[in-house]
Amino acid sequence: MIYTYDVVVIGGGIAGLITALKASEKCSVSVVSKIHVTRSHSVAAQGGIAASLGNEEEDRWEWHMFDTVKGGDYLSDQNAAEILAKEAPGCVSMLEHLGVPFSRNSNGKIQQRRFGGHTQNFGKVPVKRACYAADRTGRTIMDTLYDECLMRKIPLHNEVFINNLLFSENQCCGVVGYDIRDCTPIVFHAKTVVLATGGAGRIFKTTSNGYSSTGDGFGLTLNSGLVLQDMEFIQFHPTGIFGLGILVSEAARAEGGILRNNKNERFMMKYAPSLKELAPRDIIARAILTEINEGRGINGEKYVFLDLRSIGKETLLEKIPEVISFIQTYLGISANEAPVPVAPTCHYFMGGIPTNTKGQVLVDKNHTIARGLYAVGECACVSVHGANRLGCNSLIDLVVFGLRTGKSASRYSIKHNRVSLPVETEKISENKIAFLLEKKGNSSVYNIRENLQNLMTEKCNVFRDGQNLSLALDKICELKKKYSDLVLNDNGTHFNYELQEAFELGNMLKTAESILYSAFKRKESRGAHFRTDFPEREDTKWLKHTLVASNLQGLKVTYFPVKISRFQPLKRKY
Ligand code: FUM
Repeated sequence: MIYTYDVVVIGGGIAGLITALKASEKCSVSVVSKIHVTRSHSVAAQGGIAASLGNEEEDRWEWHMFDTVKGGDYLSDQNAAEILAKEAPGCVSMLEHLGVPFSRNSNGKIQQRRFGGHTQNFGKVPVKRACYAADRTGRTIMDTLYDECLMRKIPLHNEVFINNLLFSENQCCGVVGYDIRDCTPIVFHAKTVVLATGGAGRIFKTTSNGYSSTGDGFGLTLNSGLVLQDMEFIQFHPTGIFGLGILVSEAARAEGGILRNNKNERFMMKYAPSLKELAPRDIIARAILTEINEGRGINGEKYVFLDLRSIGKETLLEKIPEVISFIQTYLGISANEAPVPVAPTCHYFMGGIPTNTKGQVLVDKNHTIARGLYAVGECACVSVHGANRLGCNSLIDLVVFGLRTGKSASRYSIKHNRVSLPVETEKISENKIAFLLEKKGNSSVYNIRENLQNLMTEKCNVFRDGQNLSLALDKICELKKKYSDLVLNDNGTHFNYELQEAFELGNMLKTAESILYSAFKRKESRGAHFRTDFPEREDTKWLKHTLVASNLQGLKVTYFPVKISRFQPLKRKY
């Protein structure tokens, strides 16, 4: 089966749908997703979307830009941070006009609340910048965009897994994959392909990410001989439900939640005396783990308490109803009566497929463009979040850069002729499927995946060091060997999820390896990348972006400079 469109978007989360909607104004476009698009991980975004609307108190885009750059420990490209902050208010207004049911203040305007690292007047005091729909902000945006896609009759190819990017005449001309329902190979012949495949939280044991976050876009990119950027920077959200990783939104702290150790101390006073529980996430995640590692976890366990009791039941149910119900369902705790056990959980990838601010994928440190290939959202690295993303800057990144990517991908498609597909493209997926279904090896997908998740959690977590990263790289080689010796229990062709998980595992291994190598090579601490053997930020040597490639010769890193305009790097204090 071959489908032909101008633009094909891989991934049906907020970034993918926004891109498709924008591109559909000028050309034919479709969205391809391995799950039904409304189940994409974007729906899990809880706390809000950042924009300096100033509906509650004075705010300016320059302050938002400054906070983004400082929060990112000065690794953000400042041209991208400027675009994000400047275009955010217009984007939120666009969402409002599409029908997103934002929470409202008493003036009828979109309500805004505080969030970590967002401040007034270049860091002076916290500011209310996060626009929200209770704690279902991602869900409401997704549903609104989905309705809009249906209204505009954008074809959505659900439950299609993509195995390869296709290139001919030196440009990307489509993708090949298969229908998960029956393993039929499917080719999408396109003038431009947009990757919007999200992150890879599932390579860790504890994550806030959905089951679909397996780094498929990272795998597709590396397998095509292209590079990834800044993969060492992975965000651990400070407050996941202990043991499960499900998010307890930062909104809970914005509404007055307090972190306490086993001595009932409000320990953030020590680590960030000014912003306390609303400091950036890298700082709070390290603070929590320091408390735990120094024996001040609750009952000697690996968690601390998030105390929401002073907020009051009514406000809790109005502002964070989803979180309150998760806590009740999974822990059997009424958050207005008892403190909640929390610990850091893998949440977000700051790095990814390098792009410029139009979403065009870059192939090297000279910013050469991969013709016909775009990336957007968490899988992309437009380099706006630097070494650590601020809460609520992810949703706005999806919308701001989704619109830009949709516009530039459709322009490219209009200007360029379609190139022909390489020969026998359908065979690529057919052969890959047959190979795995017939393979008689000794290793199970589940066993390798569990080992990978344990490995990443033990050796490449919030705190890292050279020795453990090096050990982990050796161990990944062993896991890759086992991966080449797979055997599947299910040899069927109908909804064979073991087969799908085998393909996903290949992407997870590639992603993990690129993270470990980039982290091993960066001998400093910056934002979310903290090396206990190199605990200081070293701007003279390391104020630069990492590019990592993985091919038959092994892994290779190169570096290129950060774009700095308005804000010179300063030591972060909160
Ligand atoms: O805590 C939260 O609600 C998460 C928000 C985000 O990652 O932007």
